[in-house]
Amino acid sequence: MAAIEVKYQEPEIDFTLIDRIIRDDYGGNKENLIMMMQAIQKQYRYLPYSALKYLSDYMGIPFTKIYEIATFYASFSIEPKGKHILSVCTGTACHLKGSGEMIKYIKEKTGLEPGKTTPDMKLTLECVNCVGACGLAPVVIINEKYNPEAELSLVSEFIEQVKAE
Ligand code: FES
Repeated sequence: MAAIEVKYQEPEIDFTLIDRIIRDDYGGNKENLIMMMQAIQKQYRYLPYSALKYLSDYMGIPFTKIYEIATFYASFSIEPKGKHILSVCTGTACHLKGSGEMIKYIKEKTGLEPGKTTPDMKLTLECVNCVGACGLAPVVIINEKYNPEAELSLVSEFIEQVKAE
C-alpha cells in the first residue's frame, strides 16, 4: 500500500485521552475497535492520522487495517470537518423537492462543494443519501438536527448565523 499522505494541519492530539478511550472506556479489546474510532472521531470531528497511528501501535493492529475501516464506513471521516455541519439529502424524493437548488444556493453563498469545509473550519457541506423521511422532503440536517420540509430560508439563516460567529 502506498504511504498515506497527511494533507491537513493536524490538531494537537491528546494522547492521554486516546489512552483513556482505548484502555478505560473500551478495555483495550480489539472487538471494540470501531467504538474506539467513533470516540476519537467524536473528540476531533474526524479521525486524525496521528490518533489512528497511535491506536494502531497501541492495539497491535496494522495501520492499513484501521485505515481501511476509516475509509470504508461513510460515518467516518479522515478529513477535518467544520465546527458546523450542513447536510442536504440528495435522495430522489428530496431531489424532486429541490435539494439540488439548495446545494447550488449553498455553493453560491459559501463557495463550498459537497464534502468540503470552509478554510476557516466553520462549516462543512455534506450531501447524504436518502435518510428515510421521503414523505417530508426535502430534508436538511443541521448539526445532527433533522429539518423536514426544509426551505431555503432555513439554510440561508443558518449560513448567515455561521458567518456571523
Ligand atoms: S430522499 Fe431524502 S429522505 Fe428520502
